[in-house]
Amino acid sequence: MASKTLAVLEPEAGLEAALAGRDLCSISDLTPQEVSAILDLAHDVKAHPSSYRHALDAKQMVMFFEKSSLRTRLTFETAINTTGGNAIFVDQTQSPLGERESLADMSRNLERWVSVIVLRTYAHETITEMAQYASVPVINALSDLEHPCQALADFMTLQERFGNLKGLKFTYVGDGNNVCHSLLLTAAQLGAHCTIGTPKNYAPKADIVAQARAIANVTGSDITIINDPIAAVSGADAVYTDVCTSMGFEHEATKRAPIFKPYQVNETLMSHAASHAIFMHCLPAHRNAEVTDAVLDGPQSVVFDQAENRMHAQKALLLLLLGAGKKAVKK
Ligand code: CP
Ligand code: NVA
Repeated sequence: MASKTLAVLEPEAGLEAALAGRDLCSISDLTPQEVSAILDLAHDVKAHPSSYRHALDAKQMVMFFEKSSLRTRLTFETAINTTGGNAIFVDQTQSPLGERESLADMSRNLERWVSVIVLRTYAHETITEMAQYASVPVINALSDLEHPCQALADFMTLQERFGNLKGLKFTYVGDGNNVCHSLLLTAAQLGAHCTIGTPKNYAPKADIVAQARAIANVTGSDITIINDPIAAVSGADAVYTDVCTSMGFEHEATKRAPIFKPYQVNETLMSHAASHAIFMHCLPAHRNAEVTDAVLDGPQSVVFDQAENRMHAQKALLLLLLGAGKKAVKK
């Protein structure tokens, strides 16, 4: 499907100043205007990467990951390396953060050496606690509660396909997990209608839904949480799914498989969406579990655009949190 041309807006100087030095623990740390400013800049860095080649010269970014990663690690590394900075990766899969040394003491060390801290954790509180102590920005690169960087790239991808997202029918089917939470909040922030279809007992957390509904009341988005996968997908412009069993929940995989079978995104389920609908997945996919090969590899799938946009969206995020947005680069 051909991409629509986007009118790239100048992010307001006030928004750029407001984002400098901030943390991104949850996508709800941002206002709708701030989400839009990050996405506007993401489109600009994708179109004009050379304009930002030295925007983060000599900046140091440290990444502590308690869980595996392909996309998030490499897109953060490529984002900082291509803007003049440097990434330091610390494999934290063998010992949880805070075990050897308190998070407060770690923060007080790290802020003396680096400009930004990127964390992938089990406990969301590990990220919020680090953010509380560190004077430099802390970014959530996935926790058990949220995956805000994924949602930024995904809504950038939706903007490329659909332009303005107000009134777009966005549907997520599957587990009400970290990815689902960040998508739900971002849809509300951008005024997209959001339907979540999950099995009973696997709905998104009630407090996240309440937060999304409060945002939606202001932006005009409709939030629907249901159990019927066909009703969820009916008429959707975009259908999104994620794995049934997230990292850290592997012991539940056998129990979950039959429960999630009716939520598999296959050609039959996709036939209930709008004929122009796109299919989205954060990846990695468990092929022929939550999505069939035919859909994942089919003409409606935009999964590799989403993966590419992780890099552009995170580049924009780093530029803004480190005070080197469009205004700073172009002046
Ligand atoms: N989508 C995503 O976050 O992928 P990784 O787990 O490979 O980083
Ligand atoms: N929900 C998945 C997303 C992986 C990118 C997980 O947490 O494992």
